[in-house]
Amino acid sequence: MNYCVVGLQWGDEGKGKVVDILAAESDVVVRFNGGANAGHTVVIGDEKFALHLMPSGAVRDRTWCVIGNGVAVDPAVLIEEIDCLAEENISINGRLFISENAHIVLDYHKQEDRLREEVLGRAKLGTTIRGIGPCYADKVGRSYAVRMGDFRDLDALKPKLANIVEYKNKIFSALYDADPIKTEEIFAKCVEYAQRLGPFISNTTQLLHQSILDGKSILFEGAQGALLDLDHGTFPFVTSSNASSLGMSAGCGVPARLVDKFIGVVKAYTTRVGAGPFPSEQDNEIGQYIRDRGNEYGTTTGRPRRCGWFDGVAAGYSAATGGIDEVAMMHLDTLAGLEELKVCRAYRINGGETKLFPSNVAQLEKAECIYETTAGWDQDLSEVKIFDDLPRAVRDYIAMVEEISKVPVSIVGVGPKRSQTIFRK
Ligand code: GDP
Ligand code: IMO
Ligand code: MG
Repeated sequence: MNYCVVGLQWGDEGKGKVVDILAAESDVVVRFNGGANAGHTVVIGDEKFALHLMPSGAVRDRTWCVIGNGVAVDPAVLIEEIDCLAEENISINGRLFISENAHIVLDYHKQEDRLREEVLGRAKLGTTIRGIGPCYADKVGRSYAVRMGDFRDLDALKPKLANIVEYKNKIFSALYDADPIKTEEIFAKCVEYAQRLGPFISNTTQLLHQSILDGKSILFEGAQGALLDLDHGTFPFVTSSNASSLGMSAGCGVPARLVDKFIGVVKAYTTRVGAGPFPSEQDNEIGQYIRDRGNEYGTTTGRPRRCGWFDGVAAGYSAATGGIDEVAMMHLDTLAGLEELKVCRAYRINGGETKLFPSNVAQLEKAECIYETTAGWDQDLSEVKIFDDLPRAVRDYIAMVEEISKVPVSIVGVGPKRSQTIFRK
């Protein structure tokens, strides 16, 4: 079986945990979008791994890990991750494959990301400052892009970098009054990166096609979430890649029809980091309660996450757009102790009621949630192992979400550990 796991909200749904569990039955795990803006948590026993670029299958020592062409690779972060795993006696030698066509995030991308956000001031997007937007902009612009394959020919890379630096310095100086960057410094780092990462660079599209022919099972791991998708999310408050399942094929070269099941991950509530509309946000004691119990602070930036009720309109939209077969609902344990729970079933926009997710933020900013309410529960769910053992109120809540979002919930999370995951069937 080939599975694709993607977020259906604004990221941080618990994809890392779901991928880690499903990776037990997979030969290959593939990242296809985003970069070190992602932070995917995998908990093994008492050990916690926050993976930014390495596919979440990395912690299993036989699983192949593929970083597809759609990923924006920050070599410094990736090397650090490889070293951290090595400290835990997890070797990725012979099982990490980085696409030669994946674009590289260099220091000037991160600098540009930071400078642009600073200049925007209050109008900033609230990016992770990981250089994601500027790197993908260079990819689309083509003339000033650097890809992993360029590390194979350093003689050709040097003049290419000099050309890029000349161009970037004009921008840095004119727009941001920033100090110039230096080719020598950037090239020296690239030499080091090329030495460390060179052995892992290959044609990963071919590798995946061959793996499929060999009958290997492949797990595709999305980063971010459908509402942060560049084309289908809440633009401009999105990331710069296709973070819904629609990005999978383009991001690794495998057609979607070879995926047997698309699994969408949601939290039992909603969170968002960074700016942008969030109709069901609870900027009050309820949001704070969820933040405290769910430890809702960014895995990558440590920023407090904005918290709110489950938005069934948004999740239903994401599921429909991404062709989602089943939903994994994480963090049900976090909701314990709330007297009643709300799920957004429709929006009121300009006086009219709609169950359709607006395709522009101006409309979404006007949306007021119309909620369905159900009873909460006090029980600690963290030790529940079987779906039918969940308290009645929990099952009613799940049923309400399924009804509103129109997708079946097949996996349920009751804690961060592997063992705190319930498979319904
Ligand atoms: P990702 O980006 O989608 O992989 O999610 P993150 O790792 O950024 O954030 C999810 C957080 O929730 C992590 O700290 C996980 O360890 C934690 N987590 C995942 N599933 C559950 C769950 O069912 N219950 C609780 N309490 N925590 C969970
Ligand atoms: P994972 O994979 C949550 C958000 C940022 C910001 C917007 C644009 O862990 O779910 P960017 O740096 O990508 O240009 O920032 O997207 N963002 C995420 N939010 N989880 C993520 O990844 C995110 N990656 C980016 O907070 O609002
Ligand atoms: Mg995350």
